[in-house]
Amino acid sequence: MLLLLCAFLSISAAYGAVVTPTYKMNDGYEIPAIALGTWLGNNSKPGVNEVENAVIWALDAGYKHVDTAWIYRVEDQVGRGLKKANRDNVFVTTKLWNDKHARSSVIPALKESLQNLQLEYVDLYLIHWPVGQFFNNSYDSTDYLDTWRGMMDAKQAGLTKSIGLSNFNQKMIDRILENELEKPAALQVELNLNLQQPALLDYCRRHSIVVMGYTPFGSLFHNKAKADAPPPRVDDPEMVEMANRYNKTVPQIALRYLVEIGVIPLPKSLTKSRIEQNIDIFDFSLTEADKKQLRGYDKNYRTIAQHKWLNHPYYPFEIPAKI
Ligand SMILES: NC(=O)c1ccc[n+]([C@@H]2O[C@H](COP(=O)([O-])OP(=O)(O)OC[C@H]3O[C@@H](n4cnc5c(N)ncnc54)[C@H](OP(=O)(O)O)[C@@H]3O)[C@@H](O)[C@H]2O)c1
Ligand SMILES: *[C@@H]1O[C@H](CO)[C@@H](O)[C@H](O)[C@H]1NC(C)=O
Ligand SMILES: *[C@@H]1O[C@H](CO)[C@@H](O)[C@H](O)[C@H]1NC(C)=O
Ligand SMILES: *[C@@H]1O[C@H](CO)[C@@H](O)[C@H](O)[C@H]1NC(C)=O
Repeated sequence: MLLLLCAFLSISAAYGAVVTPTYKMNDGYEIPAIALGTWLGNNSKPGVNEVENAVIWALDAGYKHVDTAWIYRVEDQVGRGLKKANRDNVFVTTKLWNDKHARSSVIPALKESLQNLQLEYVDLYLIHWPVGQFFNNSYDSTDYLDTWRGMMDAKQAGLTKSIGLSNFNQKMIDRILENELEKPAALQVELNLNLQQPALLDYCRRHSIVVMGYTPFGSLFHNKAKADAPPPRVDDPEMVEMANRYNKTVPQIALRYLVEIGVIPLPKSLTKSRIEQNIDIFDFSLTEADKKQLRGYDKNYRTIAQHKWLNHPYYPFEIPAKI
């Protein structure tokens, strides 16, 4: 229902910046329908100002939302990039890392993120993973209900407007709801052509929980796709033909599809032209026939499975038959 409330505007402002629609969350706040992702990958050491520049280019292109996390080690750069914006006009999401799952650790962790970001509050704070793990690598089996109570404390303290979850499965969310704790406003999970998660989307729709889709390009690009990843790649003839019909690129088609199934895509790019391209997806709609073809690429194929946490009691995903 909330998804129907959103107005899909397609107005381009005179100076070229795209005006993005928003969704209303179950706590009354609005969340912009696309965000710039800021994760540099597993082992990349952040450069001095590459993310800062990306944020500045994104703001110029019309992005109103930046997705980051304490563990990405770029909150400081995001904060510097955001200096150019009016704070009230941007939406900032960040995340609690796995070593801060004790209820009493949540507020101090968010305060550290706020200091990095040079902000008084964030718009959305997420538990990054249900899996607790101390920095010495031993597991922390703190019940995520306690972590969630810490998130509620942080909201109560005015350090974040909204609170939500990332990488939680349906049963875990159910457990939060059953315990009559505050309802999560948003869920961030992997969502792309190869992992469309229709049942989880339906669950979130029924519970008015907004869904943010990470790794929105999945295995589209040859340099990122593993050998066993299902199609399509960016040069897939059917995808190229479809994109040409809309005068759009294949990456834009992949992002637009997420928008049409009610998901907030979080495309990451450090490249100015791509940052601009990735938000230029609000002036067209996919036909039913094209959406049907795109739905066909769903193979329940996960790119971020974190198998290293398989034996944690709160590992959230289906356990694979063989690894
Ligand atoms: N909650 C979680 O656990 C979690 C997990 C993973 C990701 N995330 C969030 O989701 C964001 C996005 O996911 P991701 O970073 O894994 O992957 P992604 O956004 O699907 O892909 C990023 C890659 O695509 C390239 N790219 C972007 N736009 C392109 C375009 N138009 N044409 C060609 N190449 C393009 C980027 O290259 P360049 O940068 O070189 O341009 C980069 O290599 C993250 O940055 C993070 O904010 C959250
Ligand atoms: C991150 O590392 C995991 C294995 O630890 C690997 O499967 C995955 O492809 C890597 N992701 C990136 C973006 O490098
Ligand atoms: C790891 O760190 C936690 C929290 O500081 C501590 O309780 C635990 O004993 C440590 N484990 C090991 C194996 O050092
Ligand atoms: C096609 O898209 C390009 C890039 O967005 C734009 O410059 C061009 O005017 C478009 N052409 C048509 C026919 O709409």
